[in-house]
Amino acid sequence: MTANKRQIKLGMFLRPAAHHIAGWRHPEAWADGGLNFQRYAELAQIAERGLFDMMFSADALTADRYDPDSLSRTSYVAWIDPMSLLTALAPLTKHIGLVCTATTTYDEPFHIARKFASLDLISRGRGGWNLVTSANANEAQNFGRDEHLSKSERYRRAREFVDVVRGLWDSWDDDAFVFDKQEGRFFRPGSVHVLNHVGEFFRVRGPLNVSRSPQGQPVVVQAGASDDGRQLAAETAEVVFTAHQKIETAREFYSDVKNRMAACGRDRDHCKIMPGLGVVVAPTRQEALDKHEQLQDLIHPDVGISMLSKYIAWDLRGMDVDGPVPVVPQDRGAPTRSALLSDTARAEGLTIRQLYRRIAGTRGHFQVIGSPADVADMMEEWITTGAGDGFNIIPPFFPTSLNDFVDLVVPELQRRGLFRTAYEGRTLRENLGLPRPASRYAAGVREDAAAE
Ligand SMILES: Cc1cc2nc3c(=O)[nH]c(=O)nc-3n(C[C@H](O)[C@H](O)[C@H](O)COP(=O)(O)O)c2cc1C
Repeated sequence: MTANKRQIKLGMFLRPAAHHIAGWRHPEAWADGGLNFQRYAELAQIAERGLFDMMFSADALTADRYDPDSLSRTSYVAWIDPMSLLTALAPLTKHIGLVCTATTTYDEPFHIARKFASLDLISRGRGGWNLVTSANANEAQNFGRDEHLSKSERYRRAREFVDVVRGLWDSWDDDAFVFDKQEGRFFRPGSVHVLNHVGEFFRVRGPLNVSRSPQGQPVVVQAGASDDGRQLAAETAEVVFTAHQKIETAREFYSDVKNRMAACGRDRDHCKIMPGLGVVVAPTRQEALDKHEQLQDLIHPDVGISMLSKYIAWDLRGMDVDGPVPVVPQDRGAPTRSALLSDTARAEGLTIRQLYRRIAGTRGHFQVIGSPADVADMMEEWITTGAGDGFNIIPPFFPTSLNDFVDLVVPELQRRGLFRTAYEGRTLRENLGLPRPASRYAAGVREDAAAE
């Protein structure tokens, strides 16, 4: 009997055209590069057919960092603002969670609170915010600064930012709006709360002029992996995306974040950790391997080198592509993924070409290539041995690879009792098994401010 097995949570990582750096060139990839809204609608509906918990759009407030020639060979260059995209997808879908990135470094809490509360209202409780501190330092130059904020300042700001956003989301009690025509009361006096926040980075009075959203608060997602990132996630995140090359580091990350949660007094189950997972699947293992090789052969070396330079945070252009990966200094506030890639190259003696081929499909996330049983075996092992609560699935190119996952892997997971056969709930929280947060004003946690 499989009824009591741990249930895998699934996210679908969205990207224009493809995740694999050369995926857009595949003969089966969309001829128009996926650059129109109808394509995204199609992807959302395929993911919903596969009963995914959520779809996720990453974001950066800058263009990508490759040199212009390599950039012209990639599909990562044009996008739709994710908040607009997900809001437009909301009425075209019914069940799937809609999650996108917004930075705490180059935005303001009032804006973010308002936009995600609105997404949650429009989607009837399916909104989620991936809180990032901005991985791309070039964002600074679009916001009046020459230099990126230091990592410690970014995380201090993020901590205060999320507290303000949550405070604003609690502006209205659940039962604030009574629409009492008889008495002439639209909302109950005393049911709106003024935040009056004054801190190191922000002064925000509130309240939010958007009513309380169906989930109470949209789901807060994070994806930082440094010590600061793990701590902030343990204190505040409800979903964590993470990138690993090996099950061992995924397990270490998982137990570290869950232990930190327990130390903060949080229930370990109230944050779902979802490593990224690239999947190349076909009816047989050999067919999957061939499929993968076909994609790898489409990578132009200039693109591979530029991409690796970005993720390792070191300019590799002009170096011998078949020579060793240089030892990259790690004390520059570079993203955690840079150290991960450096360590992998050193441990396995990889050349630049071998390392860029390794990350071409998933940018440093784990990748599985095989039959549906191979993929399900791997996922089952990770879930049952403390490496994750689910996965953020990274299809190499759209729509074929997403259809392959839904048609081949999902039934295999269901057969093993590891994945739902129908959505359990109506909101993203309900499907993920996350509690609805009580308002900070409900239990008298804070002094109630005067009603407007
Ligand atoms: C799956 C995944 C998605 C991410 N998406 C974004 C993103 O959309 N925008 C961004 O600036 N950073 C993104 N990041 C990066 C992290 O959120 C974080 O900012 C970065 O890792 C630097 O922090 P760290 O050193 O604590 O890891 C993502 C990371 C992962 C693993």
